[in-house]
Amino acid sequence: MASLSAAANARAGHCASVLAVNAKLRYAPATERNRGPILAVLRRVLPAQGTVLEIASGTGEHACHFAAALSELTWQPSDPDPDARASIAAWAEKLAVPNVKPPLSLDAESAAWPAAAADAIVCINMIHIAPWEACEGLLAGASRLLPAGAPLVLYGPFRLDGVHTAPSNESFDASLRARDPRWGVRDVDDVSARAAAHGFAFEERVAMPANNQTVVYRAEAPAQR
Ligand SMILES: C[S@@+](CC[C@H](N)C(=O)[O-])C[C@H]1O[C@@H](n2cnc3c(N)ncnc32)[C@H](O)[C@@H]1O
Repeated sequence: MASLSAAANARAGHCASVLAVNAKLRYAPATERNRGPILAVLRRVLPAQGTVLEIASGTGEHACHFAAALSELTWQPSDPDPDARASIAAWAEKLAVPNVKPPLSLDAESAAWPAAAADAIVCINMIHIAPWEACEGLLAGASRLLPAGAPLVLYGPFRLDGVHTAPSNESFDASLRARDPRWGVRDVDDVSARAAAHGFAFEERVAMPANNQTVVYRAEAPAQR
């Protein structure tokens, strides 16, 4: 297994340690560590049936794992990076998970998403590795797509009440901002304030292993959006 080239790593955004299994398949070891705890939350908060739109699917390993475990759901992965989309498709083919759809080319910042509807939206490890506009675009797009009562699930490192939850997150935040001043670990309150402006009610925050958080919002009735 080889590390990605510098160019491929640049395209991958940050994705701390993403390795290449072959020309298409990418492997992010962190997904093996966090997928179990994330799945435990998803089992509780996702609808029993319908389509889950995943934003920023990265390697596609999460998509395949969650779709295999939640077989009544259709999993719609997406990523703006063509190499990520190739990896998502390659994992879905290799693991033969029938309820993973071909990945969409979707940039959360865009006002025109290539998806008209979804019953839930999941976004893992994206909003700190992108400009704030990507978070804003995610909330706006989720507001356009989701029906009342549908969940929007975010996972990643977050600040709580303006404070990092661990020294390692503070260092990570500094390294992100050094790479791109527009990036950085977000505060749950800042995200929740903008989520409310887009018609999402904060439902719960779950402390996760490795100083990460899962944050769940619910779409309110369209009149409140
Ligand atoms: C750190 S990786 C996370 C991938 C995967 N969710 C995971 O946890 O392994 C960040 C991903 O965000 C994607 N990304 C960056 N900016 C984005 C945007 N504006 N809209 C959607 N995805 C974006 C990158 O292409 C990359 O795949």
